[in-house]
Amino acid sequence: MVDLTGRTAVVTGAARGQGAAEAAALVRAGAHVLLGDVLDDEGAAVAEDLGPRARYVHLDVTQEPDWAAALDAAGDWPAVQALVNNAGIHWNRDLLDERQADMTKMLSVNVVGAMLGMQAVAPAMSAAGNGSIINVCSVLGLLGGRGSGAYTASKWALRGLTKSAAIELGPRGIRVNAIHPGYIDTPMLAQVAAGRPDDYYDFVPLGRAATTDEVADLVCYLASDDSSYLSGGDFAVDGGLTAGGGPRGNDSRTYRQGR
Ligand SMILES: NC(=O)c1ccc[n+]([C@@H]2O[C@H](COP(=O)([O-])OP(=O)(O)OC[C@H]3O[C@@H](n4cnc5c(N)ncnc54)[C@H](O)[C@@H]3O)[C@@H](O)[C@H]2O)c1
Repeated sequence: MVDLTGRTAVVTGAARGQGAAEAAALVRAGAHVLLGDVLDDEGAAVAEDLGPRARYVHLDVTQEPDWAAALDAAGDWPAVQALVNNAGIHWNRDLLDERQADMTKMLSVNVVGAMLGMQAVAPAMSAAGNGSIINVCSVLGLLGGRGSGAYTASKWALRGLTKSAAIELGPRGIRVNAIHPGYIDTPMLAQVAAGRPDDYYDFVPLGRAATTDEVADLVCYLASDDSSYLSGGDFAVDGGLTAGGGPRGNDSRTYRQGR
């Protein structure tokens, strides 16, 4: 079990889904946690459930003043030493139907929001001489995706930003890593998978979606000193999806019989 006692972590998009699970796991690991989101009622309820080391703040990641106010809300808590840039938006739309204004919105939340977050926490992490930033990308930051050009572009951009940040912030003692979830059981996935066939997970070697806790465990590890030499890395949490291999039914015997 990682130990984050005496540290404050900030998690964006923490009102539900992966962000809520990450906040809960960080609290269990001993951290004080600021939960930011734009869903104020849901976020406040999640923080309330987590107890006195959790505090909800309204934080639209695209708004620079929200970041300053959110960090102020930490008050006399320990120094901010972890940031999870988890907030994200997603939709499916073919490239030829995508609209300029929507593409801009996608990049604003999924990329610019993370940049503003890194800029906001870097001074405190530098002063502490220790910080860990986890940028939540996607398997669509490793692969292309049909009908998801805007989202895929945003996640590749966030992955690139992660590597530049790791290079620039490393000398200050700040590690920056990207995680790449595959199918994770959240409201976002429910929207994506709605109406899909039962064999939707056939391309996942483990044959199922992940629970949010399975992602949160990775986030806690990367937030802690247990991962002290990891920076600039890409960590897929995808049940083997990006290992390739095609549909699960196509094992080597099937291929041999087909020849
Ligand atoms: N669920 C999946 O299968 C999956 C797969 C790969 C990557 N991801 C990524 O994981 C992250 C979490 O996704 P999730 O599945 O929990 O989705 P979700 O939709 O359940 O939660 C996303 C949260 O982000 C918040 N948010 C949106 N815009 C915001 C803004 N401007 N400022 C602050 N908060 C904002 C939402 O209100 C919501 O609470 C996202 O970055 C997503 O792209 C999810």
